[in-house]
Amino acid sequence: MANNTLTITDNRTGKKYDVPIEEGGVIRAMDLRQIKTGADDFGLMTYDPSFGNTASCRSRVTYIDGDKGILRYRGYPIEELAEKSNYLETAYLIVKGELPDQAHYDRWKHNITIHTMVHENIKMFMEGFRYDSHPMGMLLSTVGALSTFYPDASAIHDLESRRLQTRRLIGKIPTLAAFAFRHTRGLPYVYPDNDLSYTGNLLAMLFKMTELTYKPNPVLERALDVLFILHADHEQNCSTNAMRAVGSSQPDPYACASAAISALYGPLHGGANEAAIRMLMEIGSVSAIPALIKKVKEGERRLMGFGHRVYKNYDPRAKILKHFAEQVFEVTGRNPLIDIAVELERIALQDDYFISHKLYPNVDFYSGIIYQAMGFPMTMFPVLFAIPRTSGWMAQWAEMVRDPEQKIARPRQVYIGESTRHYTPIQSRPKPTQHEDAVSEAI
Ligand code: ACO
Repeated sequence: MANNTLTITDNRTGKKYDVPIEEGGVIRAMDLRQIKTGADDFGLMTYDPSFGNTASCRSRVTYIDGDKGILRYRGYPIEELAEKSNYLETAYLIVKGELPDQAHYDRWKHNITIHTMVHENIKMFMEGFRYDSHPMGMLLSTVGALSTFYPDASAIHDLESRRLQTRRLIGKIPTLAAFAFRHTRGLPYVYPDNDLSYTGNLLAMLFKMTELTYKPNPVLERALDVLFILHADHEQNCSTNAMRAVGSSQPDPYACASAAISALYGPLHGGANEAAIRMLMEIGSVSAIPALIKKVKEGERRLMGFGHRVYKNYDPRAKILKHFAEQVFEVTGRNPLIDIAVELERIALQDDYFISHKLYPNVDFYSGIIYQAMGFPMTMFPVLFAIPRTSGWMAQWAEMVRDPEQKIARPRQVYIGESTRHYTPIQSRPKPTQHEDAVSEAI
């Protein structure tokens, strides 16, 4: 018998099964289907709510070793990319699989830059949003609306179409994000300036006032670029899973990206840095930290910006940002929340609860402090996450479209509801109070 198999004994029947172990530690869930008690038995399946131990795809994009705190895009360590690369080059790496040579980089930059404009109807569409709309709600709607502007995007099996939509979306998402921000401020939308860098142009579209030409501060431009590199992909997280799951029914990528942005919106994912800042503001001073830690340990609340499904060690992105924050503060002035954050981290990392639960700061713990120092309102934090993650979503989506093993994403369920019941006329149904008891938990 080969060593790379798993032998399973079904104690219900006494039968033994050999299941292959692939890729150094993976069994195929479908191999369990043969394990049955009889011809009418459906066969064994696994129960894994929230995919805690289930791989949904084979991917070449991003590698994470959560126990060691390692993150690599296409094999390149995140620390090297954050130090030496820029976001557009990293996006090329993520989307295409290799770092570009100069000619390919120049063409890529040109191809993204010429797609920064959006149709004027998009602008009018955005004007319909209420003045206090959350920019993330506006972003997910307008990205979804791009589907109506580019019907050619439905040709998802066409390589050139996939490439074009990728360039379009990476090019346009800063413009949509900036328009959403300006909308909340009641400010006129600023059109892209293609002479600026990717992040320089974003800063201009966000913050330009009456000056003829906006000159981004180079430190802040670079800081945003590094933040974008760190956020560009993160393998099968909630929003990427949404991108792939929706994409598996084969709509165009704008519809998929809109779903991914929706997934990113939540406070447990892209909304966590806003939640982390709110928590730090609520703590207010270093002396109030122990009281918060006590509440967290008693299960009353979570420490936002801490913990991760995959990292059971320090999130390498948080490590980079913690040091980077100081550079930003030299330009913006110190965000006083950093002192509370650093002390909170110090206390938490010495505490048995956090040690035993392997809870460390994640990328959201420090990113919000930097964004806030740069003048972004909290509602823009998840938007600033969505912009760079677009390259990751598009790369993961294209990988899914091209993967012959992928079919429509359709999980199984363990049905725990009623067995067959027969319809009764409305007059003969249970008394109102019994009915109330029965439905009190519903929705
Ligand atoms: N504070 C306190 N306790 C926590 C925290 C936290 N932030 N995160 C997890 N725990 C505890 C849970 O209470 C649970 O304890 P128990 O086993 O004693 O019941 C245990 O750690 C495991 O928690 P789960 O919720 O099962 O872990 P999961 O992997 O599902 O959750 C998540 C990961 C959602 C990120 C979680 O750690 C969390 O809610 N963190 C705060 C929100 C946050 O920062 N999200 C950003 C994630 S990074 C990103 O999206 C870019």
